[in-house]
Amino acid sequence: MTQQLKAKMILDKEFRISEVDKRIYGSFIEHLGRAVYGGIYEPGHHTADENGFRRDVLDLVTELQVPIIRYPGGNFVSGYNWEDGVGPKEQRKRRLELAWRTIETNEVGTNEFVQWAKEANAEVMMAVNLGTRGIDDARNLIEYCNHPGGTYWSDLRKQHGFEQPHKIKTWCLGNEMDGPWQIGHKTPVEYGRLAIETAKVMRWVDPDIELVACGSSSANMPLFPEWEATVLDHTYDSVDYISLHQYYGNRDNDTPNYLALSMNMDHFIKTVISTCDYVKAKKRSKKTLNLSFDEWNVWYHSNDADRKIEPWSIAPPQLEDIYNFEDALLVGSMLITFLKHADRVKMACMAQLVNVIAPIMTENGGKSWRQTIFYPYLHASVYGRGVSLQPVVSSPKYDSKQFTDVPYLDTASVYNEEKEEVTIFAVNRHLEEPLQLACDVRSFEGYRVAEHIVLEHDDLKAVNTAESETVKPHNGGNARLNDGIIEAALPKASWNVIRLVKA
Ligand code: AHR
Repeated sequence: MTQQLKAKMILDKEFRISEVDKRIYGSFIEHLGRAVYGGIYEPGHHTADENGFRRDVLDLVTELQVPIIRYPGGNFVSGYNWEDGVGPKEQRKRRLELAWRTIETNEVGTNEFVQWAKEANAEVMMAVNLGTRGIDDARNLIEYCNHPGGTYWSDLRKQHGFEQPHKIKTWCLGNEMDGPWQIGHKTPVEYGRLAIETAKVMRWVDPDIELVACGSSSANMPLFPEWEATVLDHTYDSVDYISLHQYYGNRDNDTPNYLALSMNMDHFIKTVISTCDYVKAKKRSKKTLNLSFDEWNVWYHSNDADRKIEPWSIAPPQLEDIYNFEDALLVGSMLITFLKHADRVKMACMAQLVNVIAPIMTENGGKSWRQTIFYPYLHASVYGRGVSLQPVVSSPKYDSKQFTDVPYLDTASVYNEEKEEVTIFAVNRHLEEPLQLACDVRSFEGYRVAEHIVLEHDDLKAVNTAESETVKPHNGGNARLNDGIIEAALPKASWNVIRLVKA
C-alpha cells in the first residue's frame, strides 16, 4: 500500500508579508510579431471598433483585469523612433525593425496604445529608447505625453487629437541594456551614467513619474549581479525600481525539474534584493529600492519555428508559443513566487499579452482564445489582491536535476480584509499522487469555503486551440472546513485556488 502524501500549513491573519501591489499582475505588449497587428489591432476584423481595436481581444484582456501594461518593448524599443508612430497615419513611415528583423508600419503608436490601454482599464508602463537614442529623445517623449500644453511637443500632442496629457506615471529607462543582442548594448558604467542623466531630465519635465532601471536580462547573464551593483551605484537615488527578466522552458522534457524552476526565480529575486540592500548600505541610504519583474513567462516552444521566419515581413507569427498544461503549473508557481515577495516585488509583467508568448491567442480575421496559462494568471489577478500572508508550511519534498528539497506543495495566500475573503493558491508538483492538505485557518473565525477551483489534466502536454479548450478549470475541488482546519485533496499535478469567505 502506498503512503498518502500529506502536507500541513498554518495561515494566520497576523502573519503578514505585505500588501500586494496589484501591479504584479501587469503584462506587456511589444511591437513584435502579431502582438499589435493581428492581436490588439486589426481594423478589418468583425469585432474591431472605430479605432481598429479588436473587441474580442479587449474583452479577454479585461477579463484578466490587467492593471498595467509595458509598451512598446522589449528589444524593439532600443531602435524605436517614437515620432514615427504619432500624427496622421497616412504619413507614417515604414521602417526596418532591426531587433526582430521585420517591417514596422507604425500604424499603431503612442497615442493609439494609450487609448487602447484606457479601454482595457490598464495603466501604461512606457519604455524609452536608450539604445540608439538617449536623453533628448526621452525628454521630448515625456513632454509630448505628460506636459499639459504651451510647448512644441505638448502642443503637437494636442494637434494630434489628444488635448489632455496622458499622465503616464511609470517609465522604463531602456530595455535589457546588458544583452549583447540589444541595439546599443552597454557596459554597466555606460548604462548607469546614461540612466541617471536621463532620469534627472525626465523628472525635471515631470516630477511625478516613477522610474525603472534595467537590471540583468536574466539570472544567467555573465555580469549578474555585478551589473545591478554597478548600475545602482550610479542610479540608486534617482530610480524607484530595478527590473528583472526571466523565461523558462522544459527543453529536456524533465517535468519534475521544470516545475521546480520557480525556485530559481525565488533565488533570483532574493539575490537582487540583497544587491539593492548592499547598495543601500554602501550609500548609507534610508531609501529601500523595490523590484519590477517586468518580463517573465515560459518561452521555448516557438524557438525552432522562429528561426524559419522570412526576414522583413510584416507582423509574422513570431514567438507564438502554444502552451501546454504543465506550463500553466509553472506559471502558477511563478505567480506564487511574486506573492511570497510581495514586500519587494511591486510590479511584474507577464511577457507578453497577446499572440507573442501570451495567454491570449488570435487568428487573423478569426477567433481569439485562452491558452492554458491564462487561468493561473486570471485567478491570481482576480483573487490575489489584499495582503500576502506568510504561511507556515510543512510539505514532503523531492530532489530534481537542478534542485534539492523541492516541496511538492508550492503555496501562497492573500487576505482581502475589505471583502473578508482569503484565497489560498497552491500547486501540487507531484506528478502521480494527490497531496492531502490540512490547513489551519483558526484565526479566520466565521469563514467558510466558497469554492475550490482546480486546473488539472491527465496529459501534461495538453494544449488549448481556437477550436477546443481542453485545459480549463473546474470548481469541483473537495476542500472542506471543519473546526478551523481546511482539509483538501490537491489532485496530482494541479493548480488550486481555495477561496474562503465570511459566512
Ligand atoms: O519578450 C520578448 C523579448 O524578451 C523582449 O523583447 C526582450 O526584452 C526579451 O529578451
